[in-house]
Amino acid sequence: MPLIELKHVVGGYGGAPILNGVNIAIEKSDIGVIVGPNGAGKSTTLKAIFGLLKVTGGTIDFGGENIANSLPDKLVPKGLSFVPQEKNVFTSMSVEENLEMGAFTRRDDFSRTMQWVYGMFPVLAEKRRQPAGELSGGQRQMVAMGRALMSKPSLLMLDEPSAGLSPRYVIEIFETIQRVNKEGVGILMVEQNARQALAFASKGFVLAGGQNRFTGTGPELIADPEVAKSFLGG
Ligand SMILES: Nc1ncnc2c1ncn2[C@@H]1O[C@H](COP(=O)(O)OP(=O)(O)O)[C@@H](O)[C@H]1O
Ligand SMILES: [Mg+2]
Repeated sequence: MPLIELKHVVGGYGGAPILNGVNIAIEKSDIGVIVGPNGAGKSTTLKAIFGLLKVTGGTIDFGGENIANSLPDKLVPKGLSFVPQEKNVFTSMSVEENLEMGAFTRRDDFSRTMQWVYGMFPVLAEKRRQPAGELSGGQRQMVAMGRALMSKPSLLMLDEPSAGLSPRYVIEIFETIQRVNKEGVGILMVEQNARQALAFASKGFVLAGGQNRFTGTGPELIADPEVAKSFLGG
């Protein structure tokens, strides 16, 4: 059984639908990467899963139930976590306080989870007392991911984690995502650095006009001449 499965998801922001039948299936071991042109509905897909907009058709199965239109405060305890593209850290709070915020739904002792996060992001352990706003863009993205991991999700969703990063940090953040996945967390992410992200994607989805255009493993999509020509710049 997939960790998450979207079947023919339709939804939008109140006007005409933006998603016109999106299909996505991710296993626990997968890194799923969604690519496609600007305005394709990539971010809208992640927001629809996280209950941030109205789903008017189709189903989203997660943990054995249809979670379509469930709100984030119900989804986080079920094992879903989301790092939005922007405003994803509290800049005036320390790194450690940001991580603590990520554990807000937990009533148990989360100190071991914090050690787990620091183990995956050693640079954050070094800077635990610094305000997150003083960190580099790449390190801030790690804070955002670390915060999202504090709820011990089975699926971590990331919207353009490499946006605005220098090439060196793009590589570092992509390596970090693969490390998180190896720790047993399924990944569903949106990327503009499409070729680079598809190279390590076990599942790739090309969205356009709120619909799937191509689905395959990341390397299969890169090798598909039609995908390369229309969506990967040749
Ligand atoms: N909050 C919103 N309210 C209304 N329309 C929106 C909103 N956010 C995005 N849209 C529209 O939805 C479409 C898809 O946007 P989005 O999912 O953000 O695309 P992308 O694939 O670039 O992430 C675009 O036409 C965009 O203008
Ligand atoms: Mg987007």
